[in-house]
Amino acid sequence: MLCTNLIRKKRFGKVLDADEWHFLIDSFCDGSVTDAQMAAMAMAICIRGLTPDEIFCLTNEMLASGTRLPRVSDRPRVDKHSTGGLGDKVSLILAPLLASLGCDVPMISGRGLGRTGGTLDKLEAIEGFQTSLSIEESSKVLAEVGAFIIGADERIAPADRRLYALRDVTATVESVGLITASILSKKLAASLDALVMDVKVGSGGFMPTHGEAIELAESLVRVGEQSGMPTRAILSDMDQPLGDAFGASIGNAIEVNEAIAVLSDQRSSELNSPVRELTIALSASALVQAGVMADLATAETKLRERLASGHAMERFEKMVVAQGGHLNGPLPVARRRDFLAERDGFVERINCPAIGDAIIAAGGGRKRGGEKLDHRVGIQTFVRVGDAVKKGQVLFAIFDDSDSIATSIQNASGPWVSLSETPVAARDLILESIP
Ligand code: URA
Repeated sequence: MLCTNLIRKKRFGKVLDADEWHFLIDSFCDGSVTDAQMAAMAMAICIRGLTPDEIFCLTNEMLASGTRLPRVSDRPRVDKHSTGGLGDKVSLILAPLLASLGCDVPMISGRGLGRTGGTLDKLEAIEGFQTSLSIEESSKVLAEVGAFIIGADERIAPADRRLYALRDVTATVESVGLITASILSKKLAASLDALVMDVKVGSGGFMPTHGEAIELAESLVRVGEQSGMPTRAILSDMDQPLGDAFGASIGNAIEVNEAIAVLSDQRSSELNSPVRELTIALSASALVQAGVMADLATAETKLRERLASGHAMERFEKMVVAQGGHLNGPLPVARRRDFLAERDGFVERINCPAIGDAIIAAGGGRKRGGEKLDHRVGIQTFVRVGDAVKKGQVLFAIFDDSDSIATSIQNASGPWVSLSETPVAARDLILESIP
């Protein structure tokens, strides 16, 4: 078999069979298919797409390129994965919350990608926190705590690790087939009893339209189920940053602080906290799928109890210690400056792309791989779409010791928070569940 023939075949929109996918990934791993050839194949896939059977084959070949996490207990093994969005700190809350209900949550997470922050970057804002543990070390943490959050060990789906690095620099990230194979090869390696996917829809994530998000969600559920891993997807709104009742934090340290506030139930449970409600919905779905709870309503009640009783926070602290971190109160953030409404009105739009770009420009996210981050920079929005605001009310605050974020605001083509003179409908947080 010749790799060039396979690239040509895909370039002309033909379908590769299971043997051809096996040859391609095997040869990529042993170096006989070069990075240049694989990048050309990724581009052909982006343009021509993959059939459901091809996505299944590619996923399972990428899984087979590495090893699986060993089982360390009889506890049900569950996980959640998000396609990523502005202010999305759900993983920090969900992993210890589910562990506090007797599940094992072996969470393999990523770094920031584009404007969306990465769970690993957030956790590294905690002094000493180690996100790169070997399979042996992470298994020990899982056995002791019931949860870990780490980056993929090089033995987990190594084909994805190499292909992902190529996609990142060849504008070939945005492909439903490639994203499905990339995410699920790592999740299958964790041998889960249930996976719940949070597919974000809107300008603060990768899937701006409902149609694209549905296509990705259906692909993830189909391939997950076909590979023997019960998988559900929830489509959630990402047209405004995800946050708590008192504001949405974006930035590494400030997001950890918000997650801790939710975990320790410092905010009144009467108040609407979108990040808490989404975490509960995703966690409940995982518990029901894994057969831990009979129905969603029972699961949600138990999850709320675990937050209120402090058990989830206790588990978070244990996980931090087990992964080498030291938590001594809220993490430090940079100097705060408030931005006020110049008139009365109703919040019509929050400019997620501009906010995400400003965080990157200030060093809170990466412009290129390997860059060191400034965890103290951040932005906090205090209003949501549909809110009525009064002149002089704080719309958002920036946390930055330099003038970088303020300069981004000055140079922006429009306001970060747009106001309308007439009432605007609030946005739904959870849009759809699949299936
Ligand atoms: N996250 C992944 O792990 N892979 C992708 O391709 C996109 C997001």
